[in-house]
Amino acid sequence: MKIFVLVSLFAVGYCHICLLSPPQRGTMTGINSPGAKDCILTTAPCGGRQPTRDATFYGRGENITVTFMKNLDHYNKTSPGKFVISLSEREGTTPKVLATVPDGGEPSLHIYTVKVRAPMEPPNTMHYLQVTYEPNNAQAPKTFYQCADVGFEPRNGSE
Ligand SMILES: *[C@@H]1O[C@H](CO)[C@@H](O)[C@H](O)[C@H]1NC(C)=O
Ligand SMILES: *[C@@H]1O[C@H](CO)[C@@H](O)[C@H](O)[C@H]1NC(C)=O
Repeated sequence: MKIFVLVSLFAVGYCHICLLSPPQRGTMTGINSPGAKDCILTTAPCGGRQPTRDATFYGRGENITVTFMKNLDHYNKTSPGKFVISLSEREGTTPKVLATVPDGGEPSLHIYTVKVRAPMEPPNTMHYLQVTYEPNNAQAPKTFYQCADVGFEPRNGSE
């Protein structure tokens, strides 16, 4: 009988998150390995990354599949943390929470797929979709941030 032992290679338990789709601002390098630098951004609201021109566009009211990765796990068994998906106008309005996903203790590199609904916003207003990871772990930063630039446009037949 084999005994599997989980060994943490990381003395400091920094959790990591990366936003795959829509694609996060900036680079997304080396994310096939736990502990990737591009997945450890801790500055609100977007990890210190500036808006890009490469926004992803969706139809108003369309279903959006948000795909993100827990790049490095640091699960708190007694009081699990969470992931929060929210949407903000680029020019600072209060974020609107679209979905909350509990941290179920999934291993590092786990990919989460969450369906959210695009709002019926006026077209041509740039937004950012933000995913945060709050691991609720004393040995990690309180919140990790990623943002993707998104816009909403009327689509044929949807008006
Ligand atoms: C969006 O998802 C909901 C719930 O899963 C579904 O009922 C609806 O038909 C979907 N809308 C579109 C436009 O695909
Ligand atoms: C887990 O959460 C509880 C309640 O917030 C906290 O007291 C405890 O320190 C956390 N555990 C770790 C390992 O951070």
